[in-house]
Order: sequence, then structure tokens, then C-alpha cells
Amino acid sequence: MIETKDLAKSYGTFEALRGIDLRVEEGDVYGFIGPNGAGKTTTIRILTTLLEPTSGEAHVCGHSVWENKDKIRSIIGYMPDSFGVYRDMTVTEYLHFFAAAYGIPHGDRKGLVGGLLELTDLSYKEDALIESLSRGMQQRLGLARTLVHDPKVLVLDEPASGLDPRARIEIREILRELRRMGKTILLSSHILSELQEVCTRVGILERGKLVAQGTMEEIIRSAHPNVDVVVRTTDDARAAVVLRELRGVLDCTHDAERNQVVAKVSEDLDLAEIGRHLHGRELGVRQMVKKDPSLEEVFMTLTKGLVQ
Ligand SMILES: Nc1ncnc2c1ncn2[C@@H]1O[C@H](COP(=O)(O)OP(=O)(O)O)[C@@H](O)[C@H]1O
Ligand SMILES: [Mg+2]
Repeated sequence: MIETKDLAKSYGTFEALRGIDLRVEEGDVYGFIGPNGAGKTTTIRILTTLLEPTSGEAHVCGHSVWENKDKIRSIIGYMPDSFGVYRDMTVTEYLHFFAAAYGIPHGDRKGLVGGLLELTDLSYKEDALIESLSRGMQQRLGLARTLVHDPKVLVLDEPASGLDPRARIEIREILRELRRMGKTILLSSHILSELQEVCTRVGILERGKLVAQGTMEEIIRSAHPNVDVVVRTTDDARAAVVLRELRGVLDCTHDAERNQVVAKVSEDLDLAEIGRHLHGRELGVRQMVKKDPSLEEVFMTLTKGLVQ
């Protein structure tokens, strides 16, 4: 759906993008993650044909950003990181304005706008002036605006930035709904944990380079091939010693303060095997949980502390 090959962009002598191979499949919710200045907006502006690359290729639905700008614009819905809103318009007027701009026939606009307001949960604000909306509502209105021409692909630059937790959850719900509707979505963020919930695949960008790309599971495994297992038993001190005997257990520490043992184990070691081993040594298992690293931890590992 979206593919780039060795994509590069320089501003003067500064290399903002240094050879990016991005791959977004149909139906993906692709999280484009990176700290400020990593090059997310630059990439997005190239994909939406607002900026030409210095070199390399970028295709959206098979169309090249070099040659088919108009075609790409018609299939992409783009929400910039900051967009001007027409403050003295009402919510409905605003969407009608964009529907007209996109050439939606007059007779279809009312139904379209009604549907978009419902989707973004703004129906009850249809006659409100835009300037009276909260930031979260304005962001949802911006999202509604990007959907006016029913684009197949949505490209959203930091849609959750500056929103309070509740407003972020609301955006996330809308994204889920859009995914169900079959849209392919690329969204950028520096709020890593936000994306863990909603994205099918992620790409991690740092200083103009993609340092990892894949499903959440693949990225977590590549960064952390070992897994932490937290075990609570009838005798944790002894369990910590006993677990070290087991093949696949790489390290084991007894955390007396929290009444638990933390075992670092290789990925292929089955929890059931750990249970059997403890049981064989007459240790009762009270609780056993596999702890996947958070995306935040993965990000820190992959970017080796280069994050600003
Ligand atoms: N028009 C421009 N002229 C010069 N440098 C720019 C321009 N736009 C962005 N940059 C630089 O390119 C780098 C990437 O910026 P950007 O793509 O906006 O990153 P992000 O969206 O990840 O924060 C930054 O160092 C930024 O200062
Ligand atoms: Mg940006």
C-alpha cells in the first residue's frame, strides 16, 4: 500500500532522511515512531506529495510520488500535525465547506457530513462554533475532514499530540473503527505506549534512519530475545536457586521486597516446564507471569540511548 525504497531527503546539507525502506500493507495501522526531529513529518510530507524527496522511491497504492501526485492526493486523507481551523465557522459548515472543495455532489453532502459527525462523535456539536470546541474535539473534527473524500489511505501526523488521556482514548477508538472500515492507516507519534494498543505494525525512526520495522511481536523479539518470567512460590529464596538449574533459565533473582522471583529465560522455554520443575522440587507455584517488555523499553534498546 505504501512503500519506500532508499528514500532520502536533505535540507541543504542536512540529511533529514537517510535511506528509508518503509512498508505498509493494506489494512495495517502502521505506527511511525520516533523522537522529535527524527524525520517523521518529512517522510509524511513526501508520501502526501507535498515535498519532493532528494532521492529514492516512494509509492502509494502503486503510484510514484514523483509522477502521480494527483492520483496519490485523491486516495490519501492527510491530517497535518497542526492544521488551521476556520474558527468562526460551525462544525457542520466546516465539513460542508470541505465536501464542496472535494467536489462531492450537493445532494450527497448532508448524508456524508452526518455520517462523519457520528463517526467522530461530534453530532451533538454540529451547530457549535469551532472556536468553542476543546482541543480533542477539534482534533476529531480534523479527522472527520480528512475522511470527506473517502480515502483508502489515512496519513495522520501526531494525531494524539497535546491531547489529554481521555481525548487520546477517543481518537484511538475512532482509529479502530476506521480500521474495521478497511482503511489503511499510517500515524506518527513520539508517545510510544499510545501506539502499542492500536497498531498492527510499527517502524521506529531515529535521526533519519529506520532502526526497526515489523509487527509489535517481531520488534519486541528482535530487541529482547529473552523474556522475564515473574514467579511467586511457597519458598522464593529456594525457588531462585532451583530455577537456575533449569536449561533455558539465563538468570534468576529473588526480589524479597516484592515476594517474587524474576527469571530471565530464553524465548522457547515453556512456562509449563518451569511449573513442572518447581513442582518436582516440591515448591508450590502461587503465580507465574510472563512479562513482555513495553514498547518503551524496546525503543530504548533499539535506539541505544540516542533518543533526545
Ligand atoms: N524546511 C526545513 N528546512 C530545514 N530543516 C528542516 C526542515 N524541515 C525539517 N527540518 C529538519 O529535519 C529534521 C526532521 O524534521 P521532521 O521531519 O519535522 O521530524 P519529526 O516530524 O520526526 O519531528 C529536523 O532536524 C528538522 O529540524
Ligand atoms: Mg513532526
